[in-house]
Amino acid sequence: MSRKPIIAGNWKMNLLKNEAKSVFEGVKSFCENYTAQELPTVIIAPVFTSLSEVSTVACDCGCGGNKISISGQNCHWESSGAYTGEISVEMLKDAGCSYCIIGHSERRQYFSETDEMINKKAKAILAGGLIPIICCGETLEQRESGVTDSHISSQIKAALSGISSEDISKSVIAYEPIWAIGTGKTCDSAEANRVIKMIRSVVSEVAGADAADSIRILYGGSVKPSTIAEQMSQSDIDGALVGGASLKADSFNEIIANTMKVAVSA
Ligand code: PGA
Repeated sequence: MSRKPIIAGNWKMNLLKNEAKSVFEGVKSFCENYTAQELPTVIIAPVFTSLSEVSTVACDCGCGGNKISISGQNCHWESSGAYTGEISVEMLKDAGCSYCIIGHSERRQYFSETDEMINKKAKAILAGGLIPIICCGETLEQRESGVTDSHISSQIKAALSGISSEDISKSVIAYEPIWAIGTGKTCDSAEANRVIKMIRSVVSEVAGADAADSIRILYGGSVKPSTIAEQMSQSDIDGALVGGASLKADSFNEIIANTMKVAVSA
């Protein structure tokens, strides 16, 4: 089956409101040149304080802004209550989001997020009508000691536990080797494809072959305009989660353009 590619920009803790608006506008005017069918699914995940700013630009008047979906970078699994500093799925939806990134390695590493918390978040996101982008990935130490596949397989099984096959098939997974994030070192495309195929087989095991065939699995870790074509030409890589190169409209647009070239020639 052919899966629509996704190019998602994770802005992390970067860009003030005006900067966010201007990068978003740069992506929007690029997207105006293409139909929604030609474009990959384009997603941008700004910081919480810029969500309403960018969702005003991503208006629904057919101007091109409606071709970009907005994502949260994190959320809480409860709908409201005494959780200082947290944000609920309903709040993300209210601010214009249709996706939410969860389980990013920076959240796991610096904020002690566990597989169990990520599973609760995935369930809350799906129950709220949004789509989770579930991140997984190994450290360099894990890769060197040969536990990459078992580690990722257990992260995915835990994240998807108790979720229906139907919900799994519309979810998104991002494979991000931690040693490749923000380092300029991309994972070899064939190796990223091998791991992503392995993730697809884990999805098949827990949710069936149809869900494994539909779920979109992205690669993330130092994706640049110069690396995306080779990554996108792999059989199982359905797109990219882009950090650094999504902070400037020019480089992010070039990644979208190079993705479309591969899709056209495929
Ligand atoms: P990077 O970040 O592209 O800057 O490596 C990717 C990510 O962490 O999602």
